[in-house]
Amino acid sequence: MIASRTALRQAATKHFAAKTGVRAVSAWSKVPQGPPAILGITEAFKADTNSEKINLGVGAYRDDKGKPFVLPSVRQAEKKLVESLLDKEYAGITGVPAFTKAALTLAYGPDSTPLKEDRIVITQTISGTGALRIGGAFLERFFPGAKTIYIPNPSWANHAAVFKDSGLKVEKYRYYNKDTIGLDFDGMLADIKALPKGSIVLLHACAHNPTGVDPTEEQWLKIAEVVKEGDHFPFFDMAYQGFASGDTDKDAFALRHFIKEGLRPVLAQSFAKNMGLYGERVGAFSVVCESAEEKKRVDSQVKILVRPLYSNPPVHGARIASVILNDPALNKQWLGEVKDMADRIITMRALLKENLEKLGSKQDWSHITSQIGMFAYTGLNAEQMDKLAKEHSVYATKDGRISVAGITSGNVKRLAEAIYKVKG
Ligand SMILES: Cc1ncc(COP(=O)(O)O)c(C=O)c1O
Repeated sequence: MIASRTALRQAATKHFAAKTGVRAVSAWSKVPQGPPAILGITEAFKADTNSEKINLGVGAYRDDKGKPFVLPSVRQAEKKLVESLLDKEYAGITGVPAFTKAALTLAYGPDSTPLKEDRIVITQTISGTGALRIGGAFLERFFPGAKTIYIPNPSWANHAAVFKDSGLKVEKYRYYNKDTIGLDFDGMLADIKALPKGSIVLLHACAHNPTGVDPTEEQWLKIAEVVKEGDHFPFFDMAYQGFASGDTDKDAFALRHFIKEGLRPVLAQSFAKNMGLYGERVGAFSVVCESAEEKKRVDSQVKILVRPLYSNPPVHGARIASVILNDPALNKQWLGEVKDMADRIITMRALLKENLEKLGSKQDWSHITSQIGMFAYTGLNAEQMDKLAKEHSVYATKDGRISVAGITSGNVKRLAEAIYKVKG
């Protein structure tokens, strides 16, 4: 049926061309082919017939059997929601209020001064990416200084595109030292110090993606100092709260410290990782204002930004998060589950290092355990990553980043052997 329709269309086009002398050219004939996205890894993984293949490319948590994991607290919240037979009316422009109110407390802490003074604007967003995009658009429209955002080098692969498409200019500051496979703290401070006064600086609040390298709490104090001295504007991306250390308060240290120092950041939050709500797209963007009066004005403009984009956000995922954050028993259970996920990742890091050492590797693998969060930067180069895939059926990005969530107690030994053969 489809084939015959295609044939009919082709015949009609030919007939039209013959009759009029005009060839009907597709409107999209000049659209260039874009490069493949990160999903290329998944495709290569799927095509591999080795039954022991390992996929360390995806940025989503897996359980110790390598399977996607739905948190029991999420299942229970969903059950509660289904049973309460809620309607499917539109949320307001800024989303489900019970969700955004709880998201504020989770991020800023119950004792937060701007929260108590009711001067933080928040809108529900299409997960963390949507929060970054609304943030980018808000800054592009209203930031009084230069519309350039400085992001770490390297940063999450989507940051530059999100901010460029929001109309901001994107520049980088030093972050990663490939010789130590750790933080280039001096380089980072020097670059932030050298920025023009009043620059926008993007900071990963915790579990830096892709490196897994975070500043220590002492280093954050210094970073806050330098940001303050330069009169810079901090934009926090907190996509992994709780997922890094297993403790949602500890992971919010940097954000809360900046606020204690009197800085007024903007924040992108995601509930993709810490609640495993990836496809539900639950997130929030917030702006710490100077006063409740300023909050009112900023809130009105955030609504004006959101309305022509998608009118209002989807409700289901936000309702799940809201039940979990607002029901004390479920909240406690969820915090335990976040810790379990973080702990499994921390254990896999230790096991990978231990297995490499047992094999007799002379390399220093301490970065594997000192890094934090879903990703580890192995220090392997593109050629070695290629070998891992071709000779050992281990798939990850060419920059040497592996998703630790893809490591299990069943595959860690084989993974260590493969890395040892490639790197020594
Ligand atoms: C640093 C960082 N920011 C933001 C995101 C956005 O994720 P999502 O849109 O799924 O919430 C991610 C996802 O991997 C990330 O790593």
